[in-house]
Amino acid sequence: MSDLHIDLTAPNGLTFKQPLGLFIDNEWVSSSKGAKISTINPANEEEICAVHAADSNDVDKAVEAARRAFNGEWRELDTSVRGELLYKLSDLVEQHGDVLATIDAMDNGKTFQAARNVDIVGAIALLRYYAGWADKIHGKVIDPNPDKLAYVLREPIGVCGAIIPWNFPLLNIVTKLAPALAAGNTIVVKVAEQTPLSALYFANLVKEVGIPAGVVNVLNGAGREVGSAIAAHPGIDMITFTGSTPTGRQVMKTAAGTLKRVTLETGGKSPLLVFPDADLEQAVRWGHRGIMSNQGQVCSATSRILVHADIYDTFVIRFKAEVEKISKVGDPFQSDTFQGPQVTKDQFNRVLSYVEAGKQEGAQLVCGGAAFKNVGGKGLYIAPTVFAGVTDSMAIAQEEVFGPFVVIAPFHDEAEAIERANSTIFGLGASVFTRDISRALRVSKKIQSGTIWVNSSNDDDVRVPFGGYKQSGFGREMGEEGIEPYTITKSIHVNLNSKL
Ligand code: NAI
Ligand code: MG
Repeated sequence: MSDLHIDLTAPNGLTFKQPLGLFIDNEWVSSSKGAKISTINPANEEEICAVHAADSNDVDKAVEAARRAFNGEWRELDTSVRGELLYKLSDLVEQHGDVLATIDAMDNGKTFQAARNVDIVGAIALLRYYAGWADKIHGKVIDPNPDKLAYVLREPIGVCGAIIPWNFPLLNIVTKLAPALAAGNTIVVKVAEQTPLSALYFANLVKEVGIPAGVVNVLNGAGREVGSAIAAHPGIDMITFTGSTPTGRQVMKTAAGTLKRVTLETGGKSPLLVFPDADLEQAVRWGHRGIMSNQGQVCSATSRILVHADIYDTFVIRFKAEVEKISKVGDPFQSDTFQGPQVTKDQFNRVLSYVEAGKQEGAQLVCGGAAFKNVGGKGLYIAPTVFAGVTDSMAIAQEEVFGPFVVIAPFHDEAEAIERANSTIFGLGASVFTRDISRALRVSKKIQSGTIWVNSSNDDDVRVPFGGYKQSGFGREMGEEGIEPYTITKSIHVNLNSKL
């Protein structure tokens, strides 16, 4: 059927075949009611294409396919073969890297350079890392006395439901799929309706590489309809969610109906602390990248900078200079662009509403604070925004803005810095800038956060676990810990004596 694919030409001239359907059981199908959702290029606010949007009937079909696959040949496969398939999939992502980066730049508004160097490179690394784990996930033996042998199998949990956001479209699906498949599960993924295209293109690669039908199912659709149908579905064994804290809360409530295992990677208001002995130039550079990368749409963005009072004024002046030097806003496909448009009109308006809140609360606007007018006047661009003189009671110091928007405030001593670093509902990341090794380690221990960066920001690595404290969620992704949510143990007690 013709409305299941479209030939697209991207703004950079690349042409490719874009799937538009639902990917169920290795086939492209229409949504059961024929519903579609348009996806927009935020650089020009024009529709790219309309993509089939699933409803709960389609979720049922996807779950049936995933269950069949789980009970079928996927389960029987030698674990090394599973690893090889993931490895081959990583090679295909590498071969199609330019197209995938182009799609994410067009659909999300991120720069092509960032898509290529962060999203695609990261997706390849994740697939290879978990490909290596596929044949190293195993249980253990416990033999407490001569009459008893017990062993613990580490089995796949079953059909996984993944609900993902729009900020790293390809990377987000791979972050869930790679460990889920390595551990022997099957998966139903709901992509973000704002950015469905790269995950659908990727689904074709899953098929091409020879992963059996039903192991991977990819649905576009609205959160309230498809996301909640997945969270509620009795045929799904666990939910892995990334997105906002309020939606995470809702997903957990819905999943409670069937007591599903849930892992959540939600919001943040990650602090970056700069002590007076820090390398100021490096703190400014990392601080800038830590919030302004990816248009500020990063869950662990260091959006709250706390600077020792002795160096506070200098820091603010130098931070503003760094923004002016580096944060070139514009066309995502131009190679010198640092910042593209915000992903949607909603996000664009949300950031601007926090600008108003900051002004009303009496914070001092250092730069930015308005829509950025580019050539032609189209696109959801926002000038990189810095507020200084921010106090902890202000909404802009507490709430996740999710844009190129940072607040800077002074502190007076280490104890105050730690207390204020911990004074939000979140705990995803935190940076500590100091040359004093004792202080770095002392402060790192006291901050309630799943990740701490010493003298950097938003450094990550597929081998290192990532996840939240407090209302930034629970469960870990990446590293060995990242496999845990996708396995379940079974304990087998063997009576060697056979007498009662
Ligand atoms: P969201 O959390 O509502 O969306 C994330 C995913 O959940 C999407 O696939 C969405 O369709 C789905 N969803 C929405 N409602 C659902 C429901 N009731 N049941 C199940 N699934 C549901 O995030 P949204 O609205 O796109 O962005 C709002 C804010 O969320 C952002 O401004 C930002 O603060 C935060 N956010 C955080 C992200 C992170 O990486 N932690 C990523 C994206 C957004
Ligand atoms: Mg889009």
